[in-house]
Amino acid sequence: MSAFPKNFLWGGATAANQLEGAYNGDGKGLSIADALPGGPDRFKIANQPDFDWSIDETKYRYPNHSGIDFYHHYQGDIKLFAEMGFKCYRFSVAWSRIFPNGDDTRPNEAGLKFYDRVIDECLKYNIKPVITISHYEMPLNLVTKYGGWKNRQLIDFYETYARVILNRYAARVKYWMTFNEINSALHFPVMGQGLVKSNGADKMQNIYQAWHNQFVAGARAVKIAHSLRPDLQIGCMLLYATTYAYDANPENQLAALKENQAFNHFCGDVQVRGTYPAYTESVMNRYGFSFKDLDVTAEDLATLKANPVDYIGFSYYMSTAVNVTDKSLETANGNLVGGVRNPFLKASDWGWQIDPTGLRIALNELSDRYQKPVFVVENGLGAKDVPDANHFVQDDYRINYLRAHIQAIQGALADGVDVMGYTPWGCIDLVSASTGQMSKRYGFIYVDLDDQGNGSGKRYKKASFGWYKQVIASNGERL
Ligand code: BG6
Repeated sequence: MSAFPKNFLWGGATAANQLEGAYNGDGKGLSIADALPGGPDRFKIANQPDFDWSIDETKYRYPNHSGIDFYHHYQGDIKLFAEMGFKCYRFSVAWSRIFPNGDDTRPNEAGLKFYDRVIDECLKYNIKPVITISHYEMPLNLVTKYGGWKNRQLIDFYETYARVILNRYAARVKYWMTFNEINSALHFPVMGQGLVKSNGADKMQNIYQAWHNQFVAGARAVKIAHSLRPDLQIGCMLLYATTYAYDANPENQLAALKENQAFNHFCGDVQVRGTYPAYTESVMNRYGFSFKDLDVTAEDLATLKANPVDYIGFSYYMSTAVNVTDKSLETANGNLVGGVRNPFLKASDWGWQIDPTGLRIALNELSDRYQKPVFVVENGLGAKDVPDANHFVQDDYRINYLRAHIQAIQGALADGVDVMGYTPWGCIDLVSASTGQMSKRYGFIYVDLDDQGNGSGKRYKKASFGWYKQVIASNGERL
């Protein structure tokens, strides 16, 4: 018998800004992703003191402008997802397609119609849409005019946006998430909060104020969602990097615990439990401010309390190790969340430490902590694929990575964890979020485009395509 429940949500995940293209088509406004240059230095460039979000095509390439042109290829792409047997497809709505400037009074009907078509195309194949309301693509105007999420006004703008899309799609879409990888702002606040050095990212208080505003905005979306459809499921979405103490030294154990609180658990604790955790003040004091310094109203706290999320969505790519007692250890260069190199693990071409067992631990930790269902909404291996003369990629490395992680989920199910589903990241090749590269590929489907935007844009099935199809068809038995 398969370890996976009958209704397990097998699928794949993408984000609007990384694949749609048509960045200014049909009334869409600019998003922050549209103003980030392509290439591995995109975060570094965005954090230069004089960065002002202006687009300079004489200097940089902006790969998110064209993505893989899903905007015009969604029918063929969703057909391929259906061929793999997807039960669900996680995608995001581009906020700037619906409210081009973020503060507009009326939504852009052409943008709403696009997602009508995407949703209907999924439903045609019995694929359940899973929508992320905000995935690293806030309207740029909300950053240049309002200073990003540290400004409270964004709570109302997000609420208006969430209300519009929930009203429009809730009858057809049961699964939702409020903010992608909300906790990632601790390490890179540019994508989730619109904060860079030039507008306040160098002050930790701003990041926590931005989080507070996002928590309240998210809770308001939860309220709207539940009022529209009682069986609707709306989750938070965390970047979870299982965090180990490097060794049994109690100092390292304590440091790992503190790191877990600050990164893996803080946002989830507020969004799932509806209250700030007891360790809030100690985390904030570490950064030189107090909870009292934040702009938090009694009404905000009541909203958080009354509207916790229904499940915990999370991405899992890597684990990390903490050592505060031996300064000579090599740091885990490339790992998005830092830490030291773990001698038991190998890393991807981009330095992310690969650890399937860490996923089983993550699932257990989240389930034990919150007693709610968990959903692995991102996981995968960013790798350089080399197609043969027929454009075929024999991506056994990707199959091996995914197989080991699916086995880890199987283990967690046997441990008693309520796992809702699994949507590997970038089920079709798309633009990387952290490096703006096409060559960092995750897909089951190869897209013929390179980092310079050259190529036919045609789609080709990789070896992993047939493999994943068989995994889904056997409900995880044939791995
Ligand atoms: C997550 C994001 O961080 O990981 C995605 O939610 C992102 O948007 C994915 O694409 C993989 O990261 P990257 O930087 O390799 O694209």
